[in-house]
Parts: sequence; C-alpha cells; structure tokens
Amino acid sequence: MEINNRFLQACRREPVDTTPVWFMRQAGRYMEEYRAIRQKYSLLEICYHPELAAEVTLQPVRALGVDAAILFADILLPVIPLGLGLEFAKGEGPIITSPVRTLEDVQAMNPVDAETDLGYVMEAIRILRGTLNGIPLIGFCGAPFTVASYIIEGGSSREFLKTKTMMYAAPEVFHALMERLSSVLAAYIVAQIRAGAQAVQIFDSWVGALSPQDYEKFVLPYSQKVLQAAKAEGVPVIHFGTNTTTLLSLMKRAGGDVLGLDWRIPLDEGWALVGENVAIQGNLDPVTLFAPLSEIKARVRDVLRRADGRPGHIFNLGHGILQNTPVDHVKAVVDMVHEYSALPLREGLRVRD
Ligand code: CP3
Repeated sequence: MEINNRFLQACRREPVDTTPVWFMRQAGRYMEEYRAIRQKYSLLEICYHPELAAEVTLQPVRALGVDAAILFADILLPVIPLGLGLEFAKGEGPIITSPVRTLEDVQAMNPVDAETDLGYVMEAIRILRGTLNGIPLIGFCGAPFTVASYIIEGGSSREFLKTKTMMYAAPEVFHALMERLSSVLAAYIVAQIRAGAQAVQIFDSWVGALSPQDYEKFVLPYSQKVLQAAKAEGVPVIHFGTNTTTLLSLMKRAGGDVLGLDWRIPLDEGWALVGENVAIQGNLDPVTLFAPLSEIKARVRDVLRRADGRPGHIFNLGHGILQNTPVDHVKAVVDMVHEYSALPLREGLRVRD
C-alpha cells in the first residue's frame, strides 16, 4: 500500500491533499470477510491470536480504501488481567463476571503489566506495522469512566445506575477505582505506542451520561492522566465521546490533539465551542449509511461544508458503524469524502449544494 500521510497530517492540523477518512468499528460484522472469520473464532480468540487480529484489522483497509487502520481489539481487554472475568454472550454484549462494587473489590484487582499481560495486542501491532506499509495504524483504549462503567455495572447499561450511585454514595470507592484504572490504561496505551501505534484514540463512549460538574470532579483528572501519558510519547491523541455537547470544553481541557464529535452537534458549532487550536473528527450519523446514496451524498457534503476546508478535519462517523450497514455505502462515503474535499473542488463545495 502506498504511503498515505493525510490522516497524521490532519491530526497535526497540517494542510492535506484531501480530507482523510476512517470509521470507528470499521472491522466488524457488517463485513462478510469478518463474519467468515467469526464463524471459526470467537471475538476474544481473534484478539488472542495476533495474526488473526492483524488480518481482521486489514480487511476494511483493503475493502474500503480508508486512510487509517484501527487495531482490532476491544476496550475491555484490560479487564481480563485485572482478574474480573470477561465474556461476550451471544446477543447480550460484554459481561464482567466479577463486577467491582466495594473498596475491597478495588483492592483485590490484580496488578497489570501491559507489556506481558496484554502482549498479544502489542504483537498484533508489530505484525501490522510490518504489513500496513504506509497506512497509519491507530491504537486505542477505553477512557477510565467508560471502562469503569462496565466494571461496576457488570456489562452494558442504559442508566448507569450502579456507576452513578457509587459516585454519589461512595465517592471514595469510585475515586479509588478510577485511580487504578487510569494507571493501568495509561501504561497500556503507552505500551501500544512503543509497539508501533502511530496515533491513539481514547474512547469515552458513555461519558455523556454525566453532568459537566460530575465530569469535572469524577472523570477529568483521570482521563487527563491517560491522555497526558499518551501525549508524552509524541503521537497524535484522539479524545472521543458521545452525547458530549455540554462536555466538550471540559474534554478539551482533559486533553487530546483531536476531539471526536458525535452527530448531535453540527460540526462547525462543535469546532467553534472548543476553538480552532484542536483538530476535529466526525461526525456523520451512522444511520445515514442506511439511507439512499443521494441522501448520503447530501449529508457527507454538509459535514465537509461545515469543516470548510480548515486544516485539522478527519472525517468519521459520530459513533461506530452499526451491524447490517451496507458495505457499498461505506465504500461510497470514502470515495465521496476524497472526491469532494480534494483541493480543486473545495471552493465549489462552498458555493454549490
Ligand atoms: O474496527 C474497530 O473499530 C476496532 C475494533 C473495536 C472493537 N471494539 C471490536 C469489537 C473497537 C475500537 C472496539 C471498542 C469498543 N468496545 C467500545 C468503544 C467504541 C464504541 O462503540 O463506543 C466499546 C463500548 C466496546 C465494548 C463492546 N465490545 C461492546 C459493547 C460489544 C458488544 C456489541 C455487540 O455488537 O455485540 C463489544 C464486542 C465487539 N468488539 C465487537 C467488535 C467487532 C462485536 C462483534 C463480534 O462479536 O464479533
């Protein structure tokens, strides 16, 4: 694959030939090639076998022509060496078999050495750096709050009842858990960068459940620790969350060279809120990909028009690709982004519809 620097350039807010595009969850069940591997191996088996994880990482790069690869792994992998037990039950999402509810539970979590306990992730990164050859590789981890929410709830949640109850009724337990998690996640993301990840994304997918006051007190210092540890390694850092319209300026304070926006805020308004000294990633609604191509086209152009050719826009969805998304529509978006944002057409984008 030929050298392609536009993703890393955009992360640094440098001018690019055309807007870079990749998709959160670009490897997954909407792709036939992925389903074929999943027939033989579970999600965790794929992660545990670096050559399989590398192969799955490459599938969307080959099929779609995206400008970045994201390592195939899961934000919950660190839960395994912590000793809390992780299962993916069919149709139910992740299950943490020993959830954390008390200070004793926090103290009973195992020490984690990312380099060895999660060595299979580092090995996948090393394999990929050898094969990707010019397409940048993104490493990732969950942010402390989002990982804590799974650990406390025991799985996915709508209301985050147990998580927020711990925050409000037993803040010392919550802080102790966040302290431990932020150390583990910081070491994990640093290990990924040292293994070869050229950029990293910190996923705080569910942080939008919190008020700004609670974010500032219970989350910001811990996210900051992970973001700063990654930043110190010298690679671009993407800070992503959903439902974050009221949290964006605090998330910017926590850190990140790039802020990920979901679709609930128009891209230009989100960018104005955080200021131009940060790059922006986003923010097409993932459900757009189920619409006819004419509607997709109008909405892709709308996102690009709002970005207005400013250096530092990375095109993405506002959240991960959904199951059953038509692959040809995903591919069409890649081509549209590249075509409409290419230098000669950028001017036209401003005036035409
Ligand atoms: O292509 C990529 O983006 C890389 C791989 C990736 C996975 N998970 C693989 C996966 C990434 C970046 C993640 C991150 C992740 N995992 C997040 C943050 C991103 C987001 O969507 O907000 C979260 C919250 C998780 C936790 C998680 N893992 C859930 C809730 C689920 C179940 C969802 C479902 O569809 O059942 C998973 C499983 C998971 N992780 C899948 C994949 C491809 C599902 C597919 C499978 O079983 O094969």
